[in-house]
Formats: sequence, C-alpha cells, structure tokens
Amino acid sequence: MGFSTTAIHAGNEPDPTTGAVSVPIYQTSTYAQEGLGRNKGWEYARTQNPTRSALEKNIAALEGAKFGFAFASGMAAIDTTLKLVKGGDHVLLGNNTYGGTFRLFNRILSNYGVEFDVVDTTDVLSLEQYFKPNTKLVFVETPTNPVMAVTDLAAVSELAHARGAKVVCDNTFMSPYFQRPIEHGVDIVVHSTTKYLNGHSDSVGGFVALNNEEDAEWIKFVQNSVGAILSPMDSFLVLRGTKTLAVRMEAHDKNGRQVAAFLQEHPKVEKVYYPGLTSHPQHEIAKKQQTGFGGMVSFETGSLENARKVLDSVKLCTLGESLGGVETLISHPASMTHAAVPEEARAKLGITDGLVRISVGIEDVEDIIADLDQALG
Ligand SMILES: Cc1ncc(COP(=O)(O)O)c(C=O)c1O
Repeated sequence: MGFSTTAIHAGNEPDPTTGAVSVPIYQTSTYAQEGLGRNKGWEYARTQNPTRSALEKNIAALEGAKFGFAFASGMAAIDTTLKLVKGGDHVLLGNNTYGGTFRLFNRILSNYGVEFDVVDTTDVLSLEQYFKPNTKLVFVETPTNPVMAVTDLAAVSELAHARGAKVVCDNTFMSPYFQRPIEHGVDIVVHSTTKYLNGHSDSVGGFVALNNEEDAEWIKFVQNSVGAILSPMDSFLVLRGTKTLAVRMEAHDKNGRQVAAFLQEHPKVEKVYYPGLTSHPQHEIAKKQQTGFGGMVSFETGSLENARKVLDSVKLCTLGESLGGVETLISHPASMTHAAVPEEARAKLGITDGLVRISVGIEDVEDIIADLDQALG
C-alpha cells in the first residue's frame, strides 16, 4: 500500500465494540478482568492501552518497522532507547543533535558510566577512527537541528555494522514521509512526535521504531518498567495527525523551498542552511536518501543584534521553541533549543548568536515571505 493509505489505515481499524471509525480515546487506567488470570489482553494502562497500541501500529508501519513504542516525549523515547547500552559501553554521538539529546549524554548517562564521543557523522571517512571495541551505538540526527547537516545513513550503517555497533537515527525533521532510515540500514528510529508526526503543536510525544525483536522486547520492558508512556488523549491526537502527514509534508516542503530561495537572495542574509539548496554541502546525499527537503530552514543574520531585530519584528511567524506544526515558528537556537550545548561547541557548528531557525508552516507562502521581508527590512 502507498504511504497515505498506510497512514490512514494502519492501526485504524473500526472499533470492535461500536464500529467507531476513529479509534476512541480509551481514557482508563485499568481493565475489568473476566476471572483470576483471565482478561481480554488488557491489564493495566501503563502496560497497554488500545489508543496507544493503534498509534504504535500506525507509526511502525510508516517507518517500515515491525515494532513501535509511543512515549510521553521525544526525550523519553530517546532515553528509553539509550537503555540498550550499559555502563562501560561506548556510544558515538553526532555533534549536532538536539541540545536535549546532548544533555542526556553529558549530564545524565555519563553518571552511569556510559562513555561517549561527540563526532561529525557527516564525515563518514573520519568516523572510523572513533570506534572502540566497546562501541555499541552510533546516534545520528539527519538533517541536524539547526544547521541542517546531512549524514549518509547507508554509509554510517555499513561502517557501524561492520564493527558490531547499531545505528539510531533521530528522524524528527524529515518524518517517515520524506525519509525512512530503516530502508537505509539504520537499526532504530526515534522521533519527537511533538513535531511533524502530530503536526498541530498541541501534543508532546515521542516514538521508537525498530525491527530487532530482542531489542524491541527490551524497549517494551523499559517502557513498562519506567512508564514514560504516551497518554490516550495524546495518542489519539498523533494518530489523527499522521492521517494528513503526506499532504502536510508536501505543503511544508513546497513552502520551505520557496522561503529558502527567498532568504538566499536577500541582501541582509549571510548564509542559508537548507538541504534543498544546491549550495548545501550534502545536497546530493540528501537527494539520495530523502524524497523531499521539508520545512526547516536556518539562516545567518551576522549578529545577535540583527537576529534580535528579526525575531522582535516578525508578525505572522510566531517566536517560539518547537517545530513541525502547521503554523510558522521562528526561533534563536543559541539561546533557546541549543542553550544546553557549550558555547565553544556551538561556535564550531555554526550555531552563532546571529543564527535564526524557521519551521516553515503551511500558511500561504507569500504571507510568510512578506513577514520575513518586513522583519529583515
Ligand atoms: C530533533 C529533535 N529530537 C528530539 C527532540 C526532543 O523531543 P521532545 O521535545 O518531544 O521531548 C527535539 C525537540 O525539539 C528535536 O528537535
């Protein structure tokens, strides 16, 4: 079946009790048991919930994965995935992941003896030297947040697998509509469903999708043991969101390309970061592994003062953290999403004080461009 058919139907069977076409919000903490040791397959709502199960089937199918697990946030999904490693194991972490992912390694996992090295996963040739005998995982985000660096997923997966390590890919920016990492050899896909999968800026959630049964069993066990599950209401919202994922992503992509082209020509913009531009250093890799470029665009204004003027002057674009909703959001990575990344590391990556990030929404693109034009002016 095609992507949209899967998005609308996978996990979305009519409700067995009433025939309701939309999966109901099973707002319950427990289930009546038929007798001691006999139940309908549902025991306690941390362990299983029908609304969450429907969503888990749905997104797993979209990612081409056998197993899927929905979490209370993207960070909860990432944290649970990282419980596949133990103290003494080593992880290679991409140097431009979401700030919260870096913080999880730097401030929390390091306390439990998990070793990690921060590496440039876009430079596959240089990556080889960082593998150690205890390297268990490579954690990649592509395109990265906010400088849109693209990693060759097939090449990194091949390298990691040859050294006995697995690859995790944060696929939040592309969504499975534009990029299906498992098809490129990646072992585990993580998402912040808060972004494009839900798409309407009204739910925080996360997801893990994978094929390996043993790893899936462990993730399920940790999900139940630690309990950072997605609520029934949020599961319903994300399930509703994925039904329109294809049409939304097409619209984000169309607007994203036009906004990037506009910014590239603007005299007050020093540099534009968008994998769809032929000037992007990994444009060819992006074309190879993505079927679109999406709505995330960052640009350099030259200084904090200039960035502040733009951010204070926009009227239609909303100044705020997060991304992937239907409305255009604009943000300042250095002080907002990436404040947890040390200043020196930020500078190396190009996350300067003058960098502005836009999550291009699906409003009429002329209105978005007019707003950016007046703000830059
Ligand atoms: C790429 C990426 N991964 C993970 C996260 C964390 O997700 P959440 O905020 O849902 O915990 C974010 C949040 O902005 C993100 O942008």
